[in-house]
This record gives sequence, C-alpha cells and structure tokens, in this order.
Amino acid sequence: MTEKTYLRVKGGSPLCGTYNVHGAKNAVLPMLAASVMTEDEVTVTDCPYISDVDDMTEVLRALGVAVSRRGRDVTVSGKPTLTEIPPHLACAMRSSVFMLGALLAETGEVRLFTPGGCRIGARPLDIHFDGFRRLGACVEYGEDYVLCHAEKLTGADVILKYPSVGATENLIMAAVKAEGRTRLIGAAREPEIVSLVRLLVKMGADIAGEGTPVITVNGVRELEGAVCAPVADRIVTGTVMAAVAVAGGRVELNGADASCLGAVISPFLSSHTYLVEHGGVLVFESDRVLAATDVVTGPYPLFPTDMQAPFMACQCYASGMSSMRETVFEDRFAHVAELRKMGADIALAGNTAFVDGSRGMKGAVMHAADLRGGAGLLVAALGAEGESFIDGLRYLDRGYENIERIMSNLGGKVVRESGSLPE
Ligand code: UD1
Repeated sequence: MTEKTYLRVKGGSPLCGTYNVHGAKNAVLPMLAASVMTEDEVTVTDCPYISDVDDMTEVLRALGVAVSRRGRDVTVSGKPTLTEIPPHLACAMRSSVFMLGALLAETGEVRLFTPGGCRIGARPLDIHFDGFRRLGACVEYGEDYVLCHAEKLTGADVILKYPSVGATENLIMAAVKAEGRTRLIGAAREPEIVSLVRLLVKMGADIAGEGTPVITVNGVRELEGAVCAPVADRIVTGTVMAAVAVAGGRVELNGADASCLGAVISPFLSSHTYLVEHGGVLVFESDRVLAATDVVTGPYPLFPTDMQAPFMACQCYASGMSSMRETVFEDRFAHVAELRKMGADIALAGNTAFVDGSRGMKGAVMHAADLRGGAGLLVAALGAEGESFIDGLRYLDRGYENIERIMSNLGGKVVRESGSLPE
C-alpha cells in the first residue's frame, strides 16, 4: 500500500468561533504578476500562505526579480532579466499565464510552456490571444508553448466574446503601457479584477470602469512602486459558510467583504441559515435545517463556479431535490463521484447536477481531483455521520491556508495524517 497524506474528518461537530478571512488568491496572483511592470518596490499585503502564492513567487524569482516575504506582505522589485517562464513552473500553476500580459507590457516578449493547474475543462486562451493581437502583438503557439512578442503595443477596442477573468486581467496589463486608449468591451467584472486595477492605478496607470463590462485604459509611459491590499477571499469565506451550514454552528467571518458576497450568500439564505452584520463583522449561523435550492453558476455578479462544489455539498444535506447548473466550465463535476461514495444521490444531466438531499451522508474514503472540488468533499465530510478520509491535498493547499487548522480552530474534527488509507 502506498503512503499518502490525507485529511481524517469526523463529521457532526458544530463549528463555532471566529475566522479571519485573508486576501483573495485570485486577486493576489495577478497583482504579483503586475509587480514586474516597474523596477520599483511593489508590495502586495495580506497574501495568504498557500502553494499558489509560493509558486508565483518562484516564477517571479526565476524571471530575475527580487521577492521577499514579511508575514503576509510580499514585496517584489527589480527588472526581469528573462522572458521565458521555466516549464516546470509554468506547468505547476495555471496562473503563470498572467505573466503573458505583464511581460508583454514590460519587455515586449514572453514565452511560456502550456500552463498546468486544475483540470477543469479545456481552458483555452483564445480570448487572451485575440486581445493581444488587437493591441499589435504577434502570438505564436505550439502544442506545449506560447510565444508573444511586440515591437510596440497600441491601444484598441477589444471585444471579449466571453467575460474571461484571466483574459480581462491580462489585457488590462498589456494595455497599461500601450500607446493610446484601449477599451475592453464585455470585460469580466470580478472583485479580484478591481483589486488588480487598484494596484495598477496606485502604480501610476490610468484605468477606469473596473467592475463594469467596459474598462478603459489610457496608456502611460512608466509605472512606479506601490503598496496595495487585495479584496478578501470570497471563496474561502463561502467555503467556511458551507461547512457551518452542514455541520451547524455560528461563526464570525472577520474581514469578510459583504459588498462582493451577494451571489455567494444568496443560496445559503433560502436555506434556513442566518447571516447578520454585527459591528462590521459578518456572523453566519446554521441549525442544519437546509432547504433545497436551484443554483446556476456564472460570471460575477452571478454565483461563482468556484463555490459550485462547496455548495453542492450543502445540497446533499437539504431536504428535497436541488439542482446545480454549471455554465462556466464544461467539466467541473469530478467531486460528484466522490460525494456518491458518501451516499449522495446525485444525477448528472449535461451541465446540471440534480441532488436529492433526503438520503443522509456517511463517511467515506475520497480523492480530491481539483482545488474547489476538494473543498466540497471536506464540507460534505464535516456534516456526515462517521469518519471520512480525503487525499489529493496538494490541490486544497493551492487555495486554502492550512484548511485543517481553519476547521479545527472552529471545533471541527479534522486532522492531516500520513499513512495508508483504509480500503
Ligand atoms: C479564473 C479564476 C478561477 C475561476 C474562473 C471563473 C483565477 C486565478 N482563477 O480562472 O478560480 O474559476 O476565473 O470565475 O483568477 N475561456 C475561453 N477562452 C479564453 C479564456 C477563457 O474560452 O481565452 C473560457 C474558459 O474555458 C471557461 C470560461 O471561459 O470556460 C471562464 O474562464 P476564465 O474566466 O478565463 O477563468 P480563469 O481566468 O482561468
């Protein structure tokens, strides 16, 4: 039997206490990428201790810039001396794709090997490439590499055929030093994009319209150093809420940003859970009586695809038939087979999962195959009768800062162990 590291989860303990929400992974990663667009010091504060942030700092170091970490502040300075992202780093994390926009703007050239990351659908980059080309760049790619170069970038109107988060971020970065005005039409509106723009504006960029479907970037010559905080992590906040919903309890979500939680919160509220703002702190409470819900994922401000699996775990405990329609990624149901091992009654029809929550859930041995799917399994295990074991922790560690500590600090029975998993 092979040795594995896994979470041992004993379900049924209520979760109570305070959780301090950290900066959003999906804001910090593009912000760190943007830091190569000036030689001066750029500090991104409130960076979580997760492997995606470690990997991004490795990418930056490999490009020749200096990176230091003091607590939650990560500081980047210096000029990139290389324009090629080493293949082992590019493959380790999909977010190395942000270096395309940042390096194209800064050095006029970038090469990266086809990025890895979570296996959730085809994840093409055509919207990024079409936009770069509109700005005057030449984009070449083969089976395992992408090469973008430009003598000069020139502002243009770019219509995005879908509000891709990464393409919006990459194109904002590429346009910041382009000559003239760029308008991104049909841009994504995620709060994490607003964080990136806040950093770039502090660095001297001229950008308007972030958080709306039309973003205008007037090119500037130079950027300078800045210090900027990311928005709070709404997906980690939502994951903790999902765990409280199924396990019961009352948790203060310290630092959660209520202004961008709308769609994350709404399906919970139809489920007999209670959310109040008390002295600037969100308090979430659940008596474990969950109602069936119909949820559809979509680009912001709709329900986030990253909450699909954690919330589906809640639907497994709701009385009656719920549904979950995934419209963002075409293959994001890997967790369904694992949830079925716990006794979940889930039928898949195309991009919709129908979940009958009246069965009851029992502990099982499960495998996390992606970051948010893994979080869904943990949520499900926290509400179940008996003990569960979840491996594939390298995915969870990409986006959750010591998830067993988050849950055990709140009273959940979760420990990380190494050894052989039960059959
Ligand atoms: C970002 C988030 C990820 C989240 C996703 C959707 C980061 C680091 N990651 O990923 O957590 O799940 O947004 O909210 O911020 N697409 C194309 N062509 C493209 C680009 C995207 O067809 O050029 C498609 C994708 O295949 C997918 C959809 O658009 O079906 C959304 O992708 P996108 O918004 O780009 O997601 P990411 O930026 O990769």
